[in-house]
Amino acid sequence: MVDFEKIKEELRSLLSSVKTSKELQEIRSKYLGSKGVIKELLKKIKEIPQEERREFGKKVNQLKEFAEQLFKEKEEEIKKVELEEKLKKEWIDLTVPPPKVLGSLHPITITLERIVEIFKSMGFEVEEGPEIELEEYNFDMLNIPKEHPARDMQDTFYVNKPGYLLRTHTSPVQIRTMLKKKPPIQIIAPGKVYRRDDDPTHSPMFHQVEGLVVNEYANFRHMKYVIEEFLRKFFETDMPVRFRTSYFPFTEPSAEVDIGCVICKQEGCRVCKHTGWLEVMGCGMVHPQVLENCGIDTEFYQGFAFGMGVERLAMLLFGIDNIKLFYENDLRFLKQFF
Ligand code: FA5
Ligand code: MG
Repeated sequence: MVDFEKIKEELRSLLSSVKTSKELQEIRSKYLGSKGVIKELLKKIKEIPQEERREFGKKVNQLKEFAEQLFKEKEEEIKKVELEEKLKKEWIDLTVPPPKVLGSLHPITITLERIVEIFKSMGFEVEEGPEIELEEYNFDMLNIPKEHPARDMQDTFYVNKPGYLLRTHTSPVQIRTMLKKKPPIQIIAPGKVYRRDDDPTHSPMFHQVEGLVVNEYANFRHMKYVIEEFLRKFFETDMPVRFRTSYFPFTEPSAEVDIGCVICKQEGCRVCKHTGWLEVMGCGMVHPQVLENCGIDTEFYQGFAFGMGVERLAMLLFGIDNIKLFYENDLRFLKQFF
């Protein structure tokens, strides 16, 4: 005689202690598999007396259904537990800061941050302007009228929208600032600018930091001091510096600032075009016409401004002899600034 109730009981107690899908699978094949308990019972049917076979078969089928139901319930239970454990284990805390190895600052970013920090420490505020700029702010309001040859000084990328261009310098931020703020003004404006330029010291996209000071007493000596003080802090040493008279339509008088070439120690090379000097910025007293274009009363106020080339300063700071290196994303180059 086969004790079906006993088999059911055994299976029930066996399953009650099962914790994993793998264990469950093992027990399932022991009971429901092709060589399992139930298959073996079905084989025995031949040995059963004819009149009891029907009843026996029914019981085996009941047992099979009972087992299948039990396995199904257990499987669902285990799946639930396993999912909960998986979720617990794989939980990610999105507020944890990423490991530092994920990336590093680009040398231009390092240089920009260095420049901004120095000017902040000198009491400058930071302003920003758009890279797609009004032609009016980039040229007209800066005292560069339509047919003025100075527009050729900065070969311009125009965009499809009439009246707009890719700004050729950060000087339009001077206009934007003076249109929205009253003096005293003391700001810098870092950002990308665009020109049709291409050689070891010129790139079609580069960065400038504009500076603008407007108050009742700003003068050339004050400007020279601010620039020299900035350069001392930037290079942490006294570099050879020279102010060279120059021309910008939006400043008068105007100057350009050169730093002694570090690549050749001023002996002459490709970078300084054999002059021993590298031009890093333009500057000057804001032209009264520009102040007036922005509604600033020139009876009371005067100003100075400067615009520096960030890549040039970075080349001198790190001793880099070609501006292209900044844009090639070559890890062998970038890793040196970790
Ligand atoms: C100007 O862009 C003026 N807006 C600067 C200025 C501001 C003068 C305020 C007076 C008052 P300039 O074209 O010289 O001037 O450019 C300024 C600096 O940007 C240069 O001294 C140089 O360091 C850098 N520069 C110019 N063209 C490029 C280029 N294609 N690639 C990299 N750096 C450049
Ligand atoms: Mg220049």
